Amino acid sequence: MENRRILTTGLREEDRELEPKLRPATLESYIGQESVKENMRVFIEAAKQRKEALDHVLLYGPPGLGKTTLSNIIANEMDVHIKTTSGPAIERPGDMAAVLNSLNEGDILFIDEIHRLNRMIEEILYPAMEDFVIDIMIGKGPGARSVRLDLPRFTLIGATTRIGLLTAPLRDRFGVVQRLEPYSVENLKIILKRSAAVLQVEMEEGGAEEIARRSRGTPRLANRMLKRVRDFAQVRYDGVITEEVARFALDLLDIDKVGLDQTDRKMLLTMIEKFGGGPVGLDTLAASINEESETIEDVYEPYLLQLGYIQRTPRGRVVTRLGYAHFGMTPPEN
Ligand SMILES: Nc1ncnc2c1ncn2[C@@H]1O[C@H](COP(=O)(O)OP(=O)(O)OP(=O)(O)O)[C@@H](O)[C@H]1O
Ligand SMILES: [Mg+2]
Repeated sequence: MENRRILTTGLREEDRELEPKLRPATLESYIGQESVKENMRVFIEAAKQRKEALDHVLLYGPPGLGKTTLSNIIANEMDVHIKTTSGPAIERPGDMAAVLNSLNEGDILFIDEIHRLNRMIEEILYPAMEDFVIDIMIGKGPGARSVRLDLPRFTLIGATTRIGLLTAPLRDRFGVVQRLEPYSVENLKIILKRSAAVLQVEMEEGGAEEIARRSRGTPRLANRMLKRVRDFAQVRYDGVITEEVARFALDLLDIDKVGLDQTDRKMLLTMIEKFGGGPVGLDTLAASINEESETIEDVYEPYLLQLGYIQRTPRGRVVTRLGYAHFGMTPPEN
């Protein structure tokens, strides 16, 4: 379901080719996330002065906000190698041991979707992160024994969209924990202008503004929409991205003026029409719009909360006055 939406914030096949080109390579060119950048700048500088590896870093936040990008930038700024893997890719303890063993002094190990590591593998990480050692079992059965191996001083960077799923002992072993926030329209415009330059497409201010407003605070979506709009501009508007062509293309893709698509609207309307605006529990809501609860929590809700269209209360989700106003409605009196 999720992956068919143009608005899905996850990585899609169509992004794969361009994303590396559109990815900034230095902290300087990484737009927004000011406090994260400021912190990282200090930690990187301090580690370099002491000629030490950077402390372990945990980055979290919704998909497409720049966790992978930032991890690569950190490696770049530290001037070290980065080895990339992901929670689901490491299936057995031996895989984890092999990855750790292949690191050199100061290297960064990037584990994407770190919340999906299984417990057995997590347990290998604890001493590796804390004391830079791993314990491996040699032999089988009664003759088996555990041998402790030293690892180089490395930096683990973990990325996750779901920090709540991380176990406490793992989370506690990260010295630096940073949350990425949705981007402002202004910052999305800067990102879009840079991307347009990379794609060598001309874009007017109004065009950038229109795309930025509909990208729900997410650079990945902004870039994806830019590509779609570019196609329309090329075929119908002499190749220039104007406000008019952006509006036309995005309307056609059924992305409304604040960036909601059919699924978001369906969710809001279901809450309004079936549940009197709420409160409605997550699971009930999920069942009635035929979505997974996690998808609602990770993908739809953050932006609706950011817009102030819904609120979370102890008794469930409620649609706010602003949420009603989006459909030209007013909430019932009570
Ligand atoms: N701060 C930024 N400045 C400029 N471009 C950015 C920034 N953050 C992200 N981008 C753009 O958005 C794209 C998606 O970012 P990235 O892949 O780093 O997201 P992510 O948080 O790792 O997502 P996921 O959770 O799906 O792995 C990048 O390829 C880049 O083009
Ligand atoms: Mg990523």
